[in-house]
Amino acid sequence: MKILVLHGPNLNLLGAREPGIYGRTSLAEIDAQLAAWARQRGISLSCAQSNHEGSLVDTVQAAAAQQTHGILINAGAYTHTSIALRDALLATALPFVEVHLSNTHGRESFRHRSLLADRAVGVVCGFGGLSYRLGLEGLVAALER
Ligand code: DQA
Repeated sequence: MKILVLHGPNLNLLGAREPGIYGRTSLAEIDAQLAAWARQRGISLSCAQSNHEGSLVDTVQAAAAQQTHGILINAGAYTHTSIALRDALLATALPFVEVHLSNTHGRESFRHRSLLADRAVGVVCGFGGLSYRLGLEGLVAALER
């Protein structure tokens, strides 16, 4: 099974960025934890991050071309704004799970709306770095069904 983990804008700053909200774990540490979890299960995981909307769209399209089975995505602020990213995910028709470190529903109202969530297999938010692991577990379970 082949899964893409895709991180959107500003997530490269995890660990240093607003640690009261996003915690002190770096993106590299989150990716390493996910890779270790996946390795134990024989899952091939690739992780990518970009601050650029078009580059995220390119990566989603490339994942489909490379026979990826599913996508775990934290689109950051593009969650709330990007029709292009939504369209890319729907165009590939790959199952995806949306994750967020913070509980976006307990924050500013502009973070309550997701342009991805209604088409996601599931959404996990509010558990810090653990949101990714829980989301990955859910995605793998859905793909195995
Ligand atoms: C985030 C929540 C978004 O609203 C925000 O723009 C982010 C991070 C999260 O993981 O909690 O960049 O996706």
